[in-house]
Amino acid sequence: GKVAVLFGGSSAEREVSLKSGHAVCEALSQANVDFEAIDATGDWMQRLMEGGFERVFNALHGRGGEDGKVQGFLECLGMPYTGSGVTASAVAMDKALTKHIWVGNGISTPKYEAVTDQTDVAGLSERLSLPLIVKPAHEGSSIGMSKVTSWEALKEAIEAARALDSVVLVEEWVTGSEYTIAVLNGKALPVIKLETDHSFYDYDAKYLSNDTKYLLPCELPQAEEDFLRELAVKATDALACKGWCRVDAMRDEATGEFYLLEVNTVPGMTDHSLVPMAAAATGMDFKALVLDVLSKASL
Ligand code: DAL
Ligand code: MG
Repeated sequence: GKVAVLFGGSSAEREVSLKSGHAVCEALSQANVDFEAIDATGDWMQRLMEGGFERVFNALHGRGGEDGKVQGFLECLGMPYTGSGVTASAVAMDKALTKHIWVGNGISTPKYEAVTDQTDVAGLSERLSLPLIVKPAHEGSSIGMSKVTSWEALKEAIEAARALDSVVLVEEWVTGSEYTIAVLNGKALPVIKLETDHSFYDYDAKYLSNDTKYLLPCELPQAEEDFLRELAVKATDALACKGWCRVDAMRDEATGEFYLLEVNTVPGMTDHSLVPMAAAATGMDFKALVLDVLSKASL
């Protein structure tokens, strides 16, 4: 049956999703899969209902497409889709809820507070230590994030993130290296280390810079890499993620402790993207990855 590839959409990550969607479509063409690409804007829901599709490859990043909404719509249509279900998608899109669940499961994540209208922002200095990173709770690709190194700068950073989201995550900064772990069907792929000249792996470092370095193998001692892979699987199991996803992590250079930051349930599939890179290291090329993810489409 025919596959609908959902991509684009209207989230802040639209541009990234257009690239992911194109790459997925290219792979499906190569594999002679019958598909139609649907930009999730305008009358796309009508098209999806009337197109006679059997399955959906969801390449939508960010709000609306990665947060359980599209997943719920597809559940109602009875149309199997790639990736995580409604609840896992919604929780993983919310960095604060994700951390609540991790803390409850003993999975280490930087100390944090979820800031809403009700929060006494001045009181944060008694509970958290500088530097901090401020993030909109439901955004992706580092959009709206800023590093804060003084209490004076915190209010402005929170306001910038608040302009994008009703919940803002204020998290203690971990000084050290950044890693990412792709999890495919409950198994962690090899860890990738990210090196950037930017203060953190921000939007430009992710998609625009050619100076960002991706290290695979990740240079961790085997035992540490194994530990991190196991942690990523535990962390995604705790959220009940399915199919494919990617966990971002930090290693504190002072203590050697790992801290998990977030899960992306529709990881990027652009030419800079990390899940394809990790899959390639196991001998799975881009086309095989796309077909594997598609084959696990479910309700
Ligand atoms: N949110 C982007 C697409 C990623 O994490 O890959
Ligand atoms: Mg993300």
